[in-house]
Amino acid sequence: MCGIIGVVQKKGDAAPFLHQALKRLEYRGYDSVGITTIYNNQLFTKKDKGKIDEVHASLNLDDLPGPIGIGHTRWATHGIPSLYNSHPHFDCDNKIAVVHNGVIDNFLELREELKQKGHKFHSETDTEVIPHMIEDYMKNGMDLKSSVRAVSERIEGTYAIVVMTTLESDKIVCTRDGNPLVIGTRPDASYVSSDIPAFLPMTNDMILLLDGEIATLTTCGVSIEKISDGTPVKRDVIRISWTADQAQKGGFPHFMLKEIHEQPMAIKNTLHLRSDAIRPAAEMILNSKKVYLIAMGTSGHAAMAGKHMLAALGGIFSTFELASDFPDTIYGTLTEDDCIIAITQSGETTDTIAAVKYAKSFGAKVIAITNVIGSSITRIADHTIITQAGPEIGVAATKTFMVQLTALALLALMLGETNSFLDQNTLRKKRESLTKLPDIVSDVIAKSEEHARRLSAILYDRPSFLFLGRGISIATANEGALKLKEISYNHAEGYSAGESKHGPIALVHDGFPVVFVIPNDATRNRIIGNVMEMKARGATIISVIEEGDNDLIELSDHYITIPKGVEPEFSTIPFVVPLQLFSYYMAIKKGHDPDKPRHLAKSVTVL
Ligand code: F6R
Repeated sequence: MCGIIGVVQKKGDAAPFLHQALKRLEYRGYDSVGITTIYNNQLFTKKDKGKIDEVHASLNLDDLPGPIGIGHTRWATHGIPSLYNSHPHFDCDNKIAVVHNGVIDNFLELREELKQKGHKFHSETDTEVIPHMIEDYMKNGMDLKSSVRAVSERIEGTYAIVVMTTLESDKIVCTRDGNPLVIGTRPDASYVSSDIPAFLPMTNDMILLLDGEIATLTTCGVSIEKISDGTPVKRDVIRISWTADQAQKGGFPHFMLKEIHEQPMAIKNTLHLRSDAIRPAAEMILNSKKVYLIAMGTSGHAAMAGKHMLAALGGIFSTFELASDFPDTIYGTLTEDDCIIAITQSGETTDTIAAVKYAKSFGAKVIAITNVIGSSITRIADHTIITQAGPEIGVAATKTFMVQLTALALLALMLGETNSFLDQNTLRKKRESLTKLPDIVSDVIAKSEEHARRLSAILYDRPSFLFLGRGISIATANEGALKLKEISYNHAEGYSAGESKHGPIALVHDGFPVVFVIPNDATRNRIIGNVMEMKARGATIISVIEEGDNDLIELSDHYITIPKGVEPEFSTIPFVVPLQLFSYYMAIKKGHDPDKPRHLAKSVTVL
């Protein structure tokens, strides 16, 4: 949440780059934006509330002098979106500029202390204490780096901080604890950002910055030290394979639609993961007594589906828990014989990281499934499976969901093979089905997009929807409902079709839309009963079914079909696609921007 960026370049003005980089980070927050540069030992700033394009239209964010600068796109936590609450924030003399992502828990106490010393505050943010503290330290003779170190020792909470000052106008200093920061490097410039796509057009060479480290960026390069004792840190440059094009819309009107269309390729690339990426995870699971899947949001739905895959294909029973509630559910019953599979596309979700740290405190083993190399979770997990979706910019997760499911399918099959839960024929059949999924998903996109658009024109004004499934399709139904509510703002609930008659059915009246997810698996015949129950109460039945399922075609008011030949354990992968497209076109029909849903941000780094 919140996107931060900084650049130190040898020549040329920094502002046009910072502006474009913020556009690439806008998915992290979009209620206000600001840029500050240094030129002739003076700070130059443009900032205001509003989306980047709106603020640029009125202020021209490109028109700031100087080759060094920092920028911020905000997702409000402390203080409403306003000019004064927008970052960067400054000290009393306007010599120190700070951008920050995270939450400083003890800011009230620090602010009071600084006010007593005569500091004047202009915002309601927690961030503003930082430049004032640095001002004090520098007035007492410390240099910028030591001042940032001293600040990090006083503040409590989670943070990524990027600072520059006219008092040392050749550099940027940054540090992190619990919030992401990555460094980009090339011979004539250094970059620091919340996420890789921000600097991808300039460089593919990246250096990780870990929690508790402080980095200094100058035109001569990057140096990193441990905050605790100043020990220099030597870290190799990592070359990343993501391309700048992947972080552009590539002719699509929105990132979300582009990313839905990229799903076949994302699945294919993830299917190419080498077995040594999966095997250590399978071994950890097989050596464990209890197995928990933990995640949030869409990743939680991948975990729900994963639980079915692990049982049906791998012969392993596991439990899914929301990461946010894991410690409150588990009551300390974990041991070092247990194993946690943590799923998070960003690798930065605070709820998930906190649950993993909690599990590790009992000695439990942690497997992470994430899409981001070097993200926080990769540094805590005992083994990480890196999925291959490429950068996902749309706030609503789509292709990262697909690759999480693909990775879980690979893991389940490896389990089934290693513990001989599956015989060779079954294994072969399941593997063949898995390799066909990229083509099947392509086919589903091609055939269902227009259908989803037409459905949205019919249903866009229905205030409430039920999404129902049985077995693994409860995960699919939940994901369909989440996509709809988060980008089109129609109320939607994902539910077990079996459970629906124990309460939710009371909501149903003439024309109430009920979306059924019905692959041709062992649950199909039982769910037909639920369709009949809803129909008998006047519901409009929308179903996602297998091609040629004439009984359900007959029973449905609207239906979308999925090609035959998908093994039941993988059904979430193709069956969710029409639901993603439906939610996308619902948002478009209602005039909402699906890439930037209200109140949401791509990576949720608060508890
Ligand atoms: C929904 C969505 C969120 C995330 C959730 C977890 O479209 O994107 O629900 O799935 O915030 O995020 P990660 O996977 O980064 O842990």
